Amino acid sequence: MADARPFHWEYVPEPVQQEFFRIEGGKPLSGSVAISGAKNAALKMLAAATLTGERCRFTNVPEIEDVRVMAQTLTELGVVVERPEPNVYEVAAGDVEWQFVPLEAAAKMRASFMLLGPLLARCGRVIISNPGGDRIGRRPVNLHVEAMRTLGAQIEYRNGYYFATAPGRLRGAEIRFPFVSVMGTENAMLAATLADGHTVLRPAAQEPEVDDLIACLQKMGAEIERTYPDTIEIEGKKRLRGAEHRVIPDRIEAGTFVVAGAVSGGKITLTGAPCEHLGAFIETMGRAGVGVSCGKDTIEVDGSALEAEGFTAVDIETAAYPGLATDLQPPTSVLLTQAKGTSHVRETIFEDRLEWMSELRRMGASIDIKDSHTAVIKGRQRLHGADVEIGDLRAGASLILAALAATGTTTIHGAHHVHRGYENIEGKFLDLGARIERLAEGNDASSS
Ligand code: UD1
Repeated sequence: MADARPFHWEYVPEPVQQEFFRIEGGKPLSGSVAISGAKNAALKMLAAATLTGERCRFTNVPEIEDVRVMAQTLTELGVVVERPEPNVYEVAAGDVEWQFVPLEAAAKMRASFMLLGPLLARCGRVIISNPGGDRIGRRPVNLHVEAMRTLGAQIEYRNGYYFATAPGRLRGAEIRFPFVSVMGTENAMLAATLADGHTVLRPAAQEPEVDDLIACLQKMGAEIERTYPDTIEIEGKKRLRGAEHRVIPDRIEAGTFVVAGAVSGGKITLTGAPCEHLGAFIETMGRAGVGVSCGKDTIEVDGSALEAEGFTAVDIETAAYPGLATDLQPPTSVLLTQAKGTSHVRETIFEDRLEWMSELRRMGASIDIKDSHTAVIKGRQRLHGADVEIGDLRAGASLILAALAATGTTTIHGAHHVHRGYENIEGKFLDLGARIERLAEGNDASSS
């Protein structure tokens, strides 16, 4: 490996263009909205492209900030990334000049850690920043690291960086995860495709994006298969080839728009929507009284019950797929503020996924956050406009939903978080008749 560039021990984040959304709520949405490609599949495919020196072409890639960050990170490694047209990305990793993923990339996006497995397997070494610097404990990556060690890698952790080497090739092995991890599974999969011998991953994550990555890897010549629902087996190959793959639709974006139709009391159609990947969520919507009907690749949402008989309170609990996605807990919680009765929300995957609810309370929601995993929502509370702050991507999209349901004007600061994961979100809402603007902080001129 060429000498790594100087490390940035004193990392100062780049200034982000501060923006806010201004939303005037209370208007039922109508019309149709096209669902974009899945963020959580596309990012892994861009990383997977470094497993081969041949060109890979991905279509239906969402035009979002996280994809831009991953493309930029790859470019800085010496990989050629091209975007011949919107939503199409071509990656040619003939030469990976640097096997160094700096803190700048990791701090912007946790998924940059997905480069550990492929770079280690292909190049035999990588220095990669711990996502979030030294903040071990919150969203750790120990499962990823242990999986690589099981495949024969030597990994040391110093000053916020993992220094990983694989003398010779990685070796196929049986990897037993203590619990299910989506990116842990995916990182191990990518590494094992180029390892010497057979790898078994168990329990493997069952999210649709994992299967989409498997389909992509198979096109690249990998011998990889889900042999049981919770088991993935891989026979390592010496090399993989280029391939073309279309990214599956984003089930989280789709779920977000389902709730938008419902809490605005509107009627909307989602096109290119993955109904088959939304089982637990659609079942929850049905129990709450939201009209959701699935076509071949469309979802019709009817929120007219909101002002008629009203929605019904339901208890929800997040779980690994096929359970209710943790990424759909915030939108579902917004819906529950509009349901009659008491709903219990149990968040089992992450410990910081209820914090955003304090902002929802500022809009008039009655929510008792019992602990980091449990909240009780009493409805129906009429939401009203307020000045609120987005802390992360999913919370941000959910505050938009609350603002659409609210009377009056809501100002949502930190709009850039939402663009990490939602393509053209204000444009899509505008097309559905919402009154939404994206503005630069300190300047009331529209920037969208
Ligand atoms: C992925 C998704 C994210 C989603 C999450 C759960 C991407 C880019 N992100 O995140 O949108 O919310 O799945 O569906 O695909 N954990 C450890 N050690 C590890 C790894 C994870 O303790 O090494 C813990 C996490 O803190 C969490 C749990 O395992 O409590 C599950 O997380 P995981 O499935 O790994 O989430 P991600 O893959 O990071």
